[in-house]
Amino acid sequence: MGRLGGTVVLVTGAARGIGAAIAMRVAKEGASVAVADLDVAGALAVADRIRSHAVEADGFAVDVREPEQSAALVERVVSRFGRLDVMVNNAGVIRVRTVLDTTPDDWDFIQSVNARGLFFAQQAGARQMLGQAPTGEGRPCGKIINLASIAGRVGRPMLSAYCASKATAISVTQAAAAELAPKVTVNAICPGPVDTEMWKQIDREWAEQKGRPLGSVWQERVDAIPMKRAETPEDLTGIAVFLASADSDFITGQSFHVDGGLMMM
Ligand SMILES: NC(=O)c1ccc[n+]([C@@H]2O[C@H](COP(=O)([O-])OP(=O)(O)OC[C@H]3O[C@@H](n4cnc5c(N)ncnc54)[C@H](O)[C@@H]3O)[C@@H](O)[C@H]2O)c1
Repeated sequence: MGRLGGTVVLVTGAARGIGAAIAMRVAKEGASVAVADLDVAGALAVADRIRSHAVEADGFAVDVREPEQSAALVERVVSRFGRLDVMVNNAGVIRVRTVLDTTPDDWDFIQSVNARGLFFAQQAGARQMLGQAPTGEGRPCGKIINLASIAGRVGRPMLSAYCASKATAISVTQAAAAELAPKVTVNAICPGPVDTEMWKQIDREWAEQKGRPLGSVWQERVDAIPMKRAETPEDLTGIAVFLASADSDFITGQSFHVDGGLMMM
């Protein structure tokens, strides 16, 4: 049955990267999984892969920049699976820009997904969870897990707008946790640099703007990790299962660094 048997989990931005890894892992733990993304073909492909392990899954289109799309997504997930136990707000974007080169469009685009998008997706999930019965006796009615970043803890060069959006993710996690307790727990995960398409984009844009060799920005960050290797999407799946499971029912408002110790440095 696994640690998440009988649980319905929705993951946004799950067509690839960290979201896809979390979707696959919670399925292995027995959850029914709603795989949502702007890239609907990618979401459907991940759902197909999950179903091949004999677990229920479906792909859904969503653009989290539109609050009504997040609300409609939650409705579709509930009509497909019956309830929503866990919502993982993972969809995210980045642009690498110096402070001086950041345009209003760069700022708005990043906030529209990572901050505003996450906030209203969280709101849609919370509305559903508050209106449903607890997952089990003495348990919350639902659990929200937000993907923030260690970039939300400390400002980094070339990433001002992204850092601000992730600080917002940490902040709205705390505010929602305080407001929604005891019915809904809300926690965040703060990854370090993870080997995904997002970091390929960071490395490429940073290298172009600073005249550095391709791969060198990534390698410099990886070399600083005390655990002495690059972080993979799968490194984030253990904490996601823990935060989705009954083992974390008394934990709320927290933001967990999963970064091989990088924030210590
Ligand atoms: N990769 C890292 O190093 C890293 C580090 C810290 C935090 N994070 C965060 O983890 C999350 C996942 O990152 P990743 O590295 O897997 O990124 P990724 O770029 O590989 O995947 C992001 C996914 O989000 C989807 N998406 C983008 N905009 C969307 C929208 N408006 N609506 C719905 N879906 C949308 C994309 O289609 C894509 O499938 C993001 O929130 C990111 O900020 C990543």
